[in-house]
Amino acid sequence: MTDRYAVIGQPISHSQSPAIHAAFAQATSQDLRYDAIDVAPEALTETLKQLHADGLRGLNVTMPHKAAVVEQCELISERAALAGAVNTLSRTDAGWHGDNTDGEGLMRDLTRLGYTVEGRRVLVLGAGGAVRGILGPLLAAKPSQLVVSNRNPWKPEALAEQFKAVGSITPRTHLALKGDRYDLIINAMSVGHSGSMPRLPDGLVADGGACYDLSYGAAHAPFRTWTETQGATRIADGLGMLVEQAAASFDIWRGVRPQTDAVLKALRAG
Ligand SMILES: NC(=O)c1ccc[n+]([C@@H]2O[C@H](COP(=O)([O-])OP(=O)(O)OC[C@H]3O[C@@H](n4cnc5c(N)ncnc54)[C@H](OP(=O)(O)O)[C@@H]3O)[C@@H](O)[C@H]2O)c1
Repeated sequence: MTDRYAVIGQPISHSQSPAIHAAFAQATSQDLRYDAIDVAPEALTETLKQLHADGLRGLNVTMPHKAAVVEQCELISERAALAGAVNTLSRTDAGWHGDNTDGEGLMRDLTRLGYTVEGRRVLVLGAGGAVRGILGPLLAAKPSQLVVSNRNPWKPEALAEQFKAVGSITPRTHLALKGDRYDLIINAMSVGHSGSMPRLPDGLVADGGACYDLSYGAAHAPFRTWTETQGATRIADGLGMLVEQAAASFDIWRGVRPQTDAVLKALRAG
């Protein structure tokens, strides 16, 4: 019997996960099938039960279900509990075990790019679900300062409180960043999907500073344009993170970590 996996989300037709996992399976000689399944929020509970009954071995979870899935898990990992968000489900006899590989995916891609966090001033733009997954690993990498800035000012404040046992986060609004300088700016806003960028003060990128966007494809364009107007020379999109978080999920499910370079190269080639 071929082991079955899937990614659930809405919308899902654009997902690159089936192609990424098919490439990993081929490269590691694993016999598996991986589908993309469109799931509406109101159908989440029933669908998870059904997919478990159907014998699926694991699921990736994407927008808008990452937070809601936490309550549907029998067990969750420490990092998923800290994030309050799950992107990887593994089958157990009783139900689903939840984990979160987003932060690991980001950190591996930053390492691949040669972007340093330790001792650096780091700014995260946005305070949504993805940010909850990356803050733990970012704090563990010991930045000299970690600032989270968001349109809605309450969210960074809540995150600073939630993560205070792990490390210090400074909450800010975008306009209050005026006069700051950062060695690494990580964009985790979803606004690129609508082709725009909110107003940010000029001068945020320190000399030689690096910029990283969790978004990729067309959604990356507005942030890239902004970084270029700021004179940044080191700019990366989130395609590498996407591949790395998928590799971490694959490892959890199959016990083998696939090579990511060739898959990333193939995705970039289109
Ligand atoms: N590369 C990867 O592997 C990977 C993994 C996960 C996510 N992502 C990407 O990361 C991005 C964020 O995902 P998410 O799950 O965190 O989304 P989310 O939970 O919906 O959060 C969206 C964030 O964007 C901000 N935002 C949205 N519209 C805005 C606007 N017009 N002006 C200013 N801020 C705005 C929101 O601010 P408010 O709180 O003020 O609304 C919030 O902080 C998405 O583009 C997603 O595709 C990539």
